[in-house]
Amino acid sequence: MIIEPRMRGFICLTAHPDGAAQSVKNQIAYVKSKGKINGGKKVLVIGASTGFGLASRIVSAFGSDAATIGVFFEKPPMEGKTASPGWYNSAAFENEANAAGLYAKSINGDAFSNEVKQQTIDMIKADLGQVDLVIYSLASPVRTNPNTGVTHRSTLKPIGSTFTNKTVDFHTGKVSEVSIEPANEEDIANTVAVMGGEDWAMWIEAMKSAGVLAPGAMTVAYSYIGPAVTEAVYRKGTIGRAKDHLEATASDITKNLESIGGKAYVSVNKALVTQASSAIPVIPLYISLLYKTMKSAGTHEGTIEQIQRLYADRLYNGSEVPTDEKGRIRIDDWELDDKIQSEVARLWEVATTENLPEIGDLEGYRKDFYHLFGFEIPGVDYQADANEMVAVKSIA
Ligand code: NAD
Ligand code: NA
Repeated sequence: MIIEPRMRGFICLTAHPDGAAQSVKNQIAYVKSKGKINGGKKVLVIGASTGFGLASRIVSAFGSDAATIGVFFEKPPMEGKTASPGWYNSAAFENEANAAGLYAKSINGDAFSNEVKQQTIDMIKADLGQVDLVIYSLASPVRTNPNTGVTHRSTLKPIGSTFTNKTVDFHTGKVSEVSIEPANEEDIANTVAVMGGEDWAMWIEAMKSAGVLAPGAMTVAYSYIGPAVTEAVYRKGTIGRAKDHLEATASDITKNLESIGGKAYVSVNKALVTQASSAIPVIPLYISLLYKTMKSAGTHEGTIEQIQRLYADRLYNGSEVPTDEKGRIRIDDWELDDKIQSEVARLWEVATTENLPEIGDLEGYRKDFYHLFGFEIPGVDYQADANEMVAVKSIA
């Protein structure tokens, strides 16, 4: 069928299999162009189908010839109805990995559940024995704790007082003022339960007890800090509390892994257009100003460039892993560069609906958003009949 983007608010209801496949191919080509990385050879990626997790799977496979297992939660296609983008990305990834002679299997289900953890452990035991790298890259608005049965929903709210600032609707380009009411204690606890480190620690504990972590195994989860203008709604808001918890969990996990010589890291990554970040007020305006500034400075990166640099220059640089004073890996260094930030802060003050197309990269934002769903990828014929019923080969 002919597949077109169908928008509802900040989400796109359709995805394009051929666009997703081309986007995966482009990411693989980038990783190959940067040369080999002496990284992990058996890798589990939790949250492997989109964004930073997909990039991690691609860098492991095509940078280090790794066997990969990918866990994700995606909608398969139905006749006449497209799959979610991560499904098509994963189908394409497996095809490319198999063609390159690399092991690649996937598990589609709720990573927060005990069942999916067990299924993953069984697959590692049967096929790989052990893994030496575990990437934890989940982004979800909801988590059911398997031990309590309680379902937690995260919120994106400031803490303490109402936050008012500028934002942009990137579909219309309209800049307006937005006010967000502060969170209560329950909002904070729920957001920490969903996006904090509890589930990461549960994964690593389950894997360690099952003996599927190799000696010296590493695990890495992703965090964000960002600038002063987004602080109230991000790093000092509910999601920031969850990231504080995630970062603290890294040291707990490292202690737990002492007996096998393992280590847990948090990598602080750059702000990028994803489904999740588009839904956070204020962030799209910040990202459009940031993109413009970093692109003209020549330091702009997407997820694949970020993760290739994480592996090559940080995790597997042949010597110690460089971290900040809190033990965090920083690949948001170019975003938080003083020159970049002072320029973004200057633009922030003057940004209006009228001047944003000039001073911001709204077009780049919009394009990246469409790319998430496999649309507007150069070289793809969107007038051609596309097969929506694409299978992820390893999933029966
Ligand atoms: P994303 O939405 O692109 O990816 C989320 C992944 O999690 C997908 O593979 C999805 O299938 C999977 N997933 C969600 N719920 C699941 C569930 N219940 N069970 C199994 N899989 C599930 O998100 P992303 O932007 O790549 O974010 C990944 C991490 O990076 C998050 O921790 C996020 O906070 C962090 N991060 C994001 C940014 C940014 O700007 N996007 C910046 C820095 C850090
Ligand atoms: Na991800």
